[in-house]
Amino acid sequence: MRRVVSAAPVTKPVVNRFIAGESVEETVPVIESMAGRGLEVTLDVLGEDITDPTEALAARDAYLRLIEALAPLELGVRAEMSVKLSSFGQALPGGHDLALKNVTAVVEAAAEIGTTVTLDMEDHTTIDSTLAIHGELRERFPQTGAVVQSYLFRTEEDCRALAEAGSRVRLVKGAYKEPASVAYQDKREVDRAYVRCLRILMNGGGYPMVGSHDPRLIAITQNLALRAGRKLDEYEFQMLYGIREAEQDRLAAEGHRMRVYIAYGTDWYGYFMRRLAERPANLAFFLRSLVSR
Ligand code: FDA
Repeated sequence: MRRVVSAAPVTKPVVNRFIAGESVEETVPVIESMAGRGLEVTLDVLGEDITDPTEALAARDAYLRLIEALAPLELGVRAEMSVKLSSFGQALPGGHDLALKNVTAVVEAAAEIGTTVTLDMEDHTTIDSTLAIHGELRERFPQTGAVVQSYLFRTEEDCRALAEAGSRVRLVKGAYKEPASVAYQDKREVDRAYVRCLRILMNGGGYPMVGSHDPRLIAITQNLALRAGRKLDEYEFQMLYGIREAEQDRLAAEGHRMRVYIAYGTDWYGYFMRRLAERPANLAFFLRSLVSR
């Protein structure tokens, strides 16, 4: 699949719908244009599932270059980073310490330009390690964000533990293929769990980051925030680059904090395939582009 998709002559324009560029130089103008539209961003340098510690160092260095490029823009927390610990060596032998060391360098550099990092959540086997690293980072950098996925049975409990003063928690439905032993398989169950988690986060002491394009969940968020007595700057919406852009602008115009997740880099395969898999329309868009040449 990787070879076929990567070699398809039309793939690049299709990939570009979801990915801002291949380099930091191509991505900076996109960040500036988002800022001009009143949108905040979180930046993901693409890469995951590496096999060698030198690749982990390369991933760390790519984030350090990004932070250097962000410094003159002076966006502070309006441009934060999203990091996948698998790209920092989490799955290698001694991976917990390796990933912690690499991500700490990024979190320190981010703090120097007045911004922060959120640890993306990957498949369920990585969660305990990721939450442990998140806890360790928060001792020095309490703003470090975590992600929770409503499709997992464990997540309500994780939300309760994370919903404390000063925490930043992104709630998403979850994008990995997970077995029925750990995750809801029915979309309606996942949505219902999302609302239960949202309620815990909104009524807790932390800062909820609502990562979804789902109009129903966006309306429910506004309602729950109002009932929890939260002001517009006491939670935020997050959506992916290239998805529901008019809705992103609408929420920002209403005075909401709206953050766009921007992925860039050359290692786009895994990210792109998850976007295709989560929505038939995305897959149809890709297939149409293959036949309409
Ligand atoms: P879902 O895909 O169920 O769609 C619900 C509804 O939203 C649709 O019926 C439609 O109305 C609307 N919609 C969705 N896509 C649309 C489109 N392209 N155009 C128009 N309408 C559309 N996952 C993970 O496992 N770990 C992580 O760390 C992250 N991080 C992350 C950050 C951010 C900012 C976001 C937004 C998402 C993630 N995800 C993630 C991905 C997440 O788990 C999930 O796969 C996607 O967000 C898709 O789920 P939705 O909540 O958008 O709803």
